[in-house]
Amino acid sequence: QTELEQEVTFCVIGASGDLSRKKTLPALFSLYYHNVLPFKFHIVGFGRKRLSDETFREAAMENLSCRAGVVDKDECDRKMQQFLQRVHYVSGHYDSEEDFKKLHEFCCELEEEEDASRMFYLAVPPSVFAFALKNIRLQATSENGWTRVIIEKPFGRDSESYEELRETISKYFDEDQVYRIDHYVGKEVVQNITTLRFGNYVFEALWNREHIRRIDIVFKEDFGTEGRSGYFDSFGIIRDIMQNHLLQVLAYLTMERPNSFKADDISAEKTKLIKSIRQLKAQDFVTGQYEGYRSEEGVPEDSTTPTFAACVLHIDNNRWKDVPVLMVAGKGLNERLAEIRILFRKGLTEAFLQKGNSMGNQIVIRIQPNESISLHVLSKVPGLSTELRETCLDLTYKEKFEHESKDIADAYERLILDAIHGEKSLFIYDEQLEASWKLFTPVLKELESEKSHPPLIYKFGDSIPSQVESLLWKHEAECGNCI
Ligand code: BG6
Repeated sequence: QTELEQEVTFCVIGASGDLSRKKTLPALFSLYYHNVLPFKFHIVGFGRKRLSDETFREAAMENLSCRAGVVDKDECDRKMQQFLQRVHYVSGHYDSEEDFKKLHEFCCELEEEEDASRMFYLAVPPSVFAFALKNIRLQATSENGWTRVIIEKPFGRDSESYEELRETISKYFDEDQVYRIDHYVGKEVVQNITTLRFGNYVFEALWNREHIRRIDIVFKEDFGTEGRSGYFDSFGIIRDIMQNHLLQVLAYLTMERPNSFKADDISAEKTKLIKSIRQLKAQDFVTGQYEGYRSEEGVPEDSTTPTFAACVLHIDNNRWKDVPVLMVAGKGLNERLAEIRILFRKGLTEAFLQKGNSMGNQIVIRIQPNESISLHVLSKVPGLSTELRETCLDLTYKEKFEHESKDIADAYERLILDAIHGEKSLFIYDEQLEASWKLFTPVLKELESEKSHPPLIYKFGDSIPSQVESLLWKHEAECGNCI
């Protein structure tokens, strides 16, 4: 039986919520549009609201779209209607075993084969994970096919709460049934980091402390919490972005070459890398909060939750010793951007660089928007003058992959498809989460203790606060003469 022939029922638990409407269902539609879902594929939404199939389909349709540039409008409408016919809805409570039994019976009615498999996508808040997982286990798993669950962050808010979550999950499901999403890992450019590093001799050979002097990983958004301030205020930017998305990016950038590029080996290397990051301290951080955050609904007047954070971290291993890594994450800044910069040492090129007013070689990996990878080099300006200028060897996806770049899949599409195929290399293993909470929990406690580290206040729309530069200088000065 091929992957397309395997019958699968995809149950979205928490189907009428934001995640399901904005990400899960649109990703499923796009996979359907591209003909990569199994022929016998059913989607069942499960949620507390009482909705008919029709109302649920109408609401779902609002967020479905075919990617601009590649589609024929009629074909898109036709496929959308076909897709919606496969979408159903069952209402019920997450803590009701009876209601999950109802869900199970509904799925059985839809399924044609005895060995149909089931995927459960938990698009619910963590407070109901335990009920939902238990009831799926007790009432709704597939009888003769596989059963898998996809869950998404927040995976706890510190080591302790993560441990509770871990125990709950492992009580009901084996590790190989659990697919934990960090959607940054599914982004096109992040997936390419492994190829860039390990598939190109020029980079592979230079990817260490002897040639690289600093790594920057920057995430900026030009909007605020967008109606999610209730959630955001109890998490803050460090838990929302750094501990997961940016740390994952860092792990791909700096891990050792895995024994193989299979999921278990990649995870082992990522975990090893996270474990080798030096324990973080409050003094390694600058935190900020945008003006006006405290007046948002659901945010206490005296909230000290950071909406901006920068930190410098160090990887204590042979490859990266004394190479500072700057991580920056902020909402309410001047632009939306996710980018990595690899800064190379200057060495004997220094004399030239001064003439060309250049920062030295850099690889800039733009995750979004406008995906690209570029290498900054110094070049002689053509002509009779001897002018030197910094310029770029440029791999802008839109130009270099002109056709394919019109159809770059959303991270959720890649991840959901991999989960259906049982491919785990882009999912987060328990061991990585345990290590990342171990790294971040003490410093979060320190930063939050007795409000002794209040965030600086910045204007909505500002660029990165200048205090970050001082933090960086301090670390660079400490490492500057190490080689
Ligand atoms: C989510 C965070 O994980 O990622 C949000 O909770 C953030 O606060 C979002 O806005 C950013 O994702 P993307 O894909 O839009 O960069």
